[in-house]
Amino acid sequence: MCFTEIRIMTSLVFVLLLVSQSFSLSRPQCLRCDQTSCNCSRQNLMKIPEAPSKLITGLDLSFNQLERIMKDDFLAFSSLRSLTVNNNRIKTIHGDAFVPLIHLEKLDLSLNQLAVLSSMWFKTLFSLKYLNLLGNKYTTLGQGNLFQPLKRLKTLHFGGPFLHSISKLDFSGLFGLEELFFDGKNLQVYAEGSLRQIGPINHITLGLSDGFQRNRALVQTILSEVVRANTTLTFTDMLFFTEKQVVPLKVAFDLGLPSLSFKNVNMSVEACLKFLNLLEDSDVIMLAFENAKFLAPTRIPMLGSLNLKKLEAVFFKNVDITWFYRFPALNFEEPLINAVRKASVINAMLFVIPCQTSVELKKLEFLDISDNFVSDIALIEVMCNGNGVLMNLQTFNVSKNLLQTINSRLFTKLERLQNIDMSQNSFTTMPDSCYWPANLQFLNLSSSHLTMVTHCLPESLHILDLSKNYLTVFDIKLPLLTELHISGNKMAYLPAGSLYPQLTFLSIQNNTLQMFSSNDLHDYKQLTRLEAGGNPYICTCDFVALMSGDLMNQRVSVRDETTSYICESPDTERGKTIADVRLSVFKCHTILAFSLLCSGILALCLLSAALCYKFNILWYMRMTWAWLRAKRKPKLRKGALDFDAFVSYSEMDSGWVEAHLLLALEQTEPQLKLCLHKRDFVPGGWILDNIMDAIEKSHRTIFVLSRHFVRSEWCKYELDYTHFRLFDQNDDRVVLILLEPIDAKNIPKRFSRLRRVMNSRTYLEWPHDENQIPVFWESLRTAITRPETVNEVKENETFI
Ligand SMILES: *[C@@H]1O[C@H](CO)[C@@H](O)[C@H](O)[C@H]1NC(C)=O
Ligand SMILES: *[C@@H]1O[C@H](CO)[C@@H](O)[C@H](O)[C@H]1NC(C)=O
Ligand SMILES: *[C@@H]1O[C@H](CO)[C@@H](O)[C@H](O)[C@H]1NC(C)=O
Ligand SMILES: *[C@@H]1O[C@H](CO)[C@@H](O)[C@H](O)[C@H]1NC(C)=O
Ligand SMILES: *[C@@H]1O[C@H](CO)[C@@H](O)[C@H](O)[C@H]1NC(C)=O
Ligand SMILES: *[C@@H]1O[C@H](CO)[C@@H](O)[C@H](O)[C@H]1NC(C)=O
Repeated sequence: MCFTEIRIMTSLVFVLLLVSQSFSLSRPQCLRCDQTSCNCSRQNLMKIPEAPSKLITGLDLSFNQLERIMKDDFLAFSSLRSLTVNNNRIKTIHGDAFVPLIHLEKLDLSLNQLAVLSSMWFKTLFSLKYLNLLGNKYTTLGQGNLFQPLKRLKTLHFGGPFLHSISKLDFSGLFGLEELFFDGKNLQVYAEGSLRQIGPINHITLGLSDGFQRNRALVQTILSEVVRANTTLTFTDMLFFTEKQVVPLKVAFDLGLPSLSFKNVNMSVEACLKFLNLLEDSDVIMLAFENAKFLAPTRIPMLGSLNLKKLEAVFFKNVDITWFYRFPALNFEEPLINAVRKASVINAMLFVIPCQTSVELKKLEFLDISDNFVSDIALIEVMCNGNGVLMNLQTFNVSKNLLQTINSRLFTKLERLQNIDMSQNSFTTMPDSCYWPANLQFLNLSSSHLTMVTHCLPESLHILDLSKNYLTVFDIKLPLLTELHISGNKMAYLPAGSLYPQLTFLSIQNNTLQMFSSNDLHDYKQLTRLEAGGNPYICTCDFVALMSGDLMNQRVSVRDETTSYICESPDTERGKTIADVRLSVFKCHTILAFSLLCSGILALCLLSAALCYKFNILWYMRMTWAWLRAKRKPKLRKGALDFDAFVSYSEMDSGWVEAHLLLALEQTEPQLKLCLHKRDFVPGGWILDNIMDAIEKSHRTIFVLSRHFVRSEWCKYELDYTHFRLFDQNDDRVVLILLEPIDAKNIPKRFSRLRRVMNSRTYLEWPHDENQIPVFWESLRTAITRPETVNEVKENETFI
């Protein structure tokens, strides 16, 4: 018993092990993949995810929980060109993990916990151009020859807070590098010549703060090895507190460094002045400080005369000058920077450039003093009240300052000035007329609280930005304008296109446009690009049709997200994007639909009328009605008949009827009583009623057939009625007289009944031969005489 239990236990453990094993082998899914790349950033991944296809070229695994990269992790990613695994917790990477990635061009392993770097990793990465190893825990760059296989490497980022030493062989085999980022903030040991063997590198960023403070010889060695006469050098994360700490820079200046930048740097005033002194004798033409803090001086230092005659471009951004009023460097002295062609002082708490200084900036072409504290009065000072300074200026950026008036007279004399950016000030109004320089082509007045535009806007403009103001109307003629930015205003209509014959681009998002028509667009003769989303559109049929296709006919393409074109009305469509709107045909073609409907009804009416006419339907209905009535009437008693015969004849044959028929039957003994419509019908009654009455009250019905009869409508009716009666009563009440020969075949089809009657019974023919006439009358009399009468006569005869 005990044994079996143990056995069961062991097999259970085994099974559990197997299960957990297979579980650990399964890979997670990446949630954001398209056909060629997967962005699995921030998905709490603990393992490299499954490859959705072999074709994936980009894989972003940043900000996950990866701890190790194993041998087979990238087997399915053999097409990969870019692999980003920064900000994980990677401690180990298998020596063969990257072997499948022979196409890899970019590898980012920064900000992990790699304590040891292995040259095994890179042995097959022949295509690698970019490698980032920053911010790990390694203290050395492995055992040497780490980068040897990377023959195509152009950009290398390495180092971190733990990097302690660089040895001779670390960069062997590396050449052709274009960009190097070297974080050696705590570097202690540097083997001379190791960086030199890489050869010239154009862009170098160095983080060597500890070296500058404690080991300046090390810094000097490194600078002497990397700086050339065309190097762009950036120092990052630096603290310069004493004058001495700045001194190593002299090595770089002596080597002819042309371009020097500082990023994230704290500098005391003393160090700064020392730096400027060194700079004076250098060949530096570009100097930049970004995210720099100039610390308050302990004592106010003296600044001798300074001449930076080679400096052509200065760039200051996000510069914090505490105690700026005690900062002597701001008292620009006369020939200080007169070679400068390009100057940017952005977000540096600048409130004025003295007129004196402006006068010296004779070569200045580009001046950006955006994001500062320059007021109207200060700007007058900067421009020396418009008396003609900065005569070479082409671009002036005074965006995001404290201006409240548009003072164009300050710029009138600057003939080369083409671009002015005055955005993000608080102008509120625009003067009625302005005096801009003749060449002004670009004017940015966005986010300036403007409520209306005036003829202050110069006709020379090519690009005008008036976005994010409070404009309701824009109607200033600008014949040369090619780009108009007027988004974020309160425009209810498109500006009239005829005022802007050269316009190719119009941005009018986030206004109060309700619609525009193809004609509106057509008025813009050159327009090719339109951005008009974010308006409260009324989705009429025309507008929807225009937006979902007809724009093509206008050469115009929509350049913003089509999902930002949203209907405000009609209510049924509110909130839908125009692409999703489906309007019914009835809504879109109301007039057409109604006219179609009406003409349909009309056609139907006409058709039924025609059918009625053609098949005499109305008549049939009336006849049927009359017949039904007649049927319901109580049958007349035989003796109650008023007439011997009702004579049906055509008007044209009335001559024969009156001259022959009446004479022969009514005025010759024994007299018969005939019913003729002309004579015996009740006037005013419905003719049909009359006819039926007459037929009812007559013993026989005589039809006088002739061609006229056939043509006469009434005859047909009468015949039809009798026809009903014939079928109904199946008696011999009809007598046919043929006045002239009519071939049954020649009778029109609609008299089919007549044809049938003619075929089915014999008829009396009116003889041509005079001698035959008495016989004819005799036969006719016989046909119509009532039996009783015959009897009477017979009786009479008998009696006589
Ligand atoms: C992946 O998405 C993040 C935002 O989640 C983005 O910051 C990152 O740039 C994306 N990566 C790539 C390679 O596009
Ligand atoms: C910089 O100068 C070196 C020689 O000192 C030269 O090989 C390299 O091509 C130059 N680079 C540029 C961008 O001019
Ligand atoms: C510069 O000083 C600020 C505080 O004033 C500090 O937060 C920052 O880390 C310092 N930067 C360097 C590189 O020392
Ligand atoms: C002016 O400066 C602002 C803010 O720094 C920037 O957005 C804008 O692009 C600059 N304009 C020009 C013409 O350089
Ligand atoms: C105008 O200035 C604003 C804000 O400074 C900027 O965002 C915009 O790009 C500028 N317009 C043009 C056309 O450069
Ligand atoms: C329009 O508004 C949307 C949302 O408010 C915003 O994302 C977009 O940048 C705005 N466009 C312009 C040109 O101001």
